[in-house]
Amino acid sequence: MQRNPLIAAISLGLFAGAATSSALAETTPLEQQLKDLESFQVIAHRGASGHAPESTMAAYELAHEWGVDYLELDVQITADGELVVFHDDAIDRTSTGEGKVNDHTLEELKALDTGSWFNEANADKADADFEGAQILTLSELFERFGHDERYYIETKSPQLNPGLEEALVESLEAHDMIETGRVLVQSFEQDSLLKIRELNENVPLIQLVWYHTNEEDDSQLQEWTGVTPGPAEITDEDFQTIAEYAAGIGTNVTYDGNDVIDADFIRQAQANGLPVHIYTINEPEEMQRLLDWGVNGLFTDYPDHLLELVE
Ligand code: G3P
Ligand code: CA
Repeated sequence: MQRNPLIAAISLGLFAGAATSSALAETTPLEQQLKDLESFQVIAHRGASGHAPESTMAAYELAHEWGVDYLELDVQITADGELVVFHDDAIDRTSTGEGKVNDHTLEELKALDTGSWFNEANADKADADFEGAQILTLSELFERFGHDERYYIETKSPQLNPGLEEALVESLEAHDMIETGRVLVQSFEQDSLLKIRELNENVPLIQLVWYHTNEEDDSQLQEWTGVTPGPAEITDEDFQTIAEYAAGIGTNVTYDGNDVIDADFIRQAQANGLPVHIYTINEPEEMQRLLDWGVNGLFTDYPDHLLELVE
């Protein structure tokens, strides 16, 4: 695979020199976004979802108000081809409906209440304004915050959502989100990322990984989709293979209460041109531990708590 020349140049620090040597080589917004990935990024997981119903406008409004670096969201496609912001494959847990997201039309999904479950589950944070919250479309989110935000978009369950990548790139282009440095696209599925890249080579991509114990031998760790070997066996070449198409990686840090990666993993990924973001970290002590490891960003349901630590 040919490495994205823009990402390669940023990793090599070429733009820092270029920007000072000539006014003609001014840093573009997309170059600046990639440069910013070297700094620490506060990523609001499904919005400020510890304080408001996940993936709703209320959760994104809060995170935006607090000045996070990215709004994190999962996109799926409805039966009639509309992109919606929704995490689970099924709508049962966080809405008044039943079944798979993609078995329903947008009109059917819009009739559901995606906020009241939060009030029932979180009596201390319940708010009557959350009742009746409608499922969000990606366009509604883009129209609300426009280029005043950055969006960290996961292609969720690509095998259940055929046409997702094409619809997503079309939407990113229509809202001018790519060259303006407003978007990262993340996925656990390498094929989904490569499809996005084929559709538009400028979209910065994040490879998600999930390390867990091997069912047959719980002393061994493996990656969910096999995109890398387990952390103990991972080599510079494994990271470089990802760096050929991605601008960074997102990973879990623990599985079943035990660490699956360490600070050396972070350093090795970074040395191979891959900033590392960790999901999903909600406890301040854990946030601080990972800040001390030198990670490049954290996904959190409580961006306010993380901002208190880093500001
Ligand atoms: O996208 C990073 C993190 O959100 C992955 O986990 O299940 O919350 O989408 P999930
Ligand atoms: Ca996600």
